[in-house]
Amino acid sequence: MVLKRKRNAGRSRPGNRPGESTRVLISRARVRQRVRQMARQIRRDFPDDTLHLVGVLKGSVLFLADLARELGGEVSFDFLSVSSYGKSTHTSGEVKLIKDLDVSIESRTVLVVEDILDTGLTLKYLLRLFEERKPKHLRVVVLLDKFERRIADVHADYTGFTIPNEFVVGYGLDFDERYRNLPDVCILQFAQRPAKK
Ligand code: IMP
Repeated sequence: MVLKRKRNAGRSRPGNRPGESTRVLISRARVRQRVRQMARQIRRDFPDDTLHLVGVLKGSVLFLADLARELGGEVSFDFLSVSSYGKSTHTSGEVKLIKDLDVSIESRTVLVVEDILDTGLTLKYLLRLFEERKPKHLRVVVLLDKFERRIADVHADYTGFTIPNEFVVGYGLDFDERYRNLPDVCILQFAQRPAKK
């Protein structure tokens, strides 16, 4: 599903800081519908396997929780954490493992669950790490794909929405740890953009 920019004005919501506004890019209803479709497709591809969902903290948590409930059959979870953007909206390009998985992925059907694919550097790092651990299958599920920003040569096996090159928050995605609890995926706009790092 390809999304284009809408020209509606930014809205100030409870939780917005002065100078920041959010506008809905993908409503919660569209997210719910798409997550259901993705889950059906994944289950069709692996009808009998236990699906081991590996969530990349913290942005993927809400997506993983909703996806898991739609998948049916046997599902298990694990989580890992890599370095994030902090207070910047731009990546440093450097990926560091902060928290590794709790259990081995050897011989499992693993679905790496990511909130958003941006430069692709995080995913490239994770795929290299996981391939060495000899899973039975290794697939990537992302809710959002900002393909215009891609640097690394990686792709997701299952993509919810391709989106324009905007900084988005909500449905798990944050800016400086805020906005994760917005139920819709929203574009974050600044009255005055913070300095690039
Ligand atoms: P990549 O390594 O550049 O592909 O970035 C992946 C990570 O950057 C994601 O898992 C997010 O945590 C973060 N990120 C990238 N774009 C956005 C955005 O628009 N909003 C919030 N986080 C983002």
